[in-house]
Amino acid sequence: MQRHFTVPANFEEAIAKALVDYKLSLSDSKELAKCVLALSDFFITQPEGQTPWHESWAQVAYLCYYLPLNAVRLRAVIGEGEKRGFFQDLEDVYDFGAGLATASLSLSETQNLKYTLIERATEPQRLIEKYFPFFKSQEWIRTIGSSQIKNPKKSLALFSYSLTELSDLPAWAYECEALMIAEPSTQQDGRKLMELRAKLLEKGFHVWAPCTHEGPCPLLTQSKTDWCHDRIHFDAPKWFLNMEEQLPMKNRTLTTSYLLMRKTKPEAIAAARVVGDTLKEKGKDRQMICRGSDREFLAWMHKFKIQQEIPRGALIEIPEGLQKVSNELRVQQEIIVL
Ligand SMILES: C[S@@+](CC[C@H](N)C(=O)[O-])C[C@H]1O[C@@H](n2cnc3c(N)ncnc32)[C@H](O)[C@@H]1O
Repeated sequence: MQRHFTVPANFEEAIAKALVDYKLSLSDSKELAKCVLALSDFFITQPEGQTPWHESWAQVAYLCYYLPLNAVRLRAVIGEGEKRGFFQDLEDVYDFGAGLATASLSLSETQNLKYTLIERATEPQRLIEKYFPFFKSQEWIRTIGSSQIKNPKKSLALFSYSLTELSDLPAWAYECEALMIAEPSTQQDGRKLMELRAKLLEKGFHVWAPCTHEGPCPLLTQSKTDWCHDRIHFDAPKWFLNMEEQLPMKNRTLTTSYLLMRKTKPEAIAAARVVGDTLKEKGKDRQMICRGSDREFLAWMHKFKIQQEIPRGALIEIPEGLQKVSNELRVQQEIIVL
């Protein structure tokens, strides 16, 4: 996974233009931060509540905070999909709970597809049509059912931070050839996503990313606390950093939990994935890896004098013949990151 991301210039320009409507600019850090805090408090105190799109502070918070952050996360996920040819032969995208079209906007940067945005609130549509004119080939609808999926074999069902409120994927999504799901990288939502992976495998979908195998997920089946997530670096623009100074939450690195699955099988990939940050222990450093149903670690014994820290989420080549002690593969030569 590419590791460093920033806000695309055309997004930044559109956000700046939209803020004028609220008599604000990107340099009004304190006022912007107040709106962000208000929406963040709303999500904390009313986790089941609907995004209050009718409030101008919520619109400002989404525009200057959640849109850029989610766009950066999604760009990373889309990049992983593109490396594996995930979007090939798809034509239609159904973006459920689209909000400010964050996911579709990000995907449309590189994928020329027809985007249907399903969003029950009307304000996001108004904002996107007015300030993001470069986003073409889109249609907004308020609800969706199976009969609206015209060409399921060429369709992608897209859920970007919109599955949390649902107990299961809606029936129309199971009919689509492809699924792209991004969820908040919390223990609860992350583990729920791994359970959904197991269910989708049973229903005949195949995992294209992040997993390199289709066995039971070891983070789910062999631990009660782990959840699968990647880590990326956010190279925030100056205005964002200034706004963030007023906030208790910092975003120099961002985590993402996601699934890219299709009914078509992907080409097999002979790689493992690093699924843990470095653990410093007496005599060794360890990082958890995933390449099948076993919970395994790479271990760099200090006595071999090889120091390596692999980014969480990176794909790696496991050298042949590594010594395995319990659940540890002992590294004796530098690991190749793909
Ligand atoms: C957390 S926001 C995510 C927005 C966007 N997808 C993103 O990634 O930033 C969830 C969105 O789903 C919308 N939503 C929730 N339930 C919905 C439903 N049943 N039908 C349509 N939209 C819905 C909400 O209005 C809100 O805009």
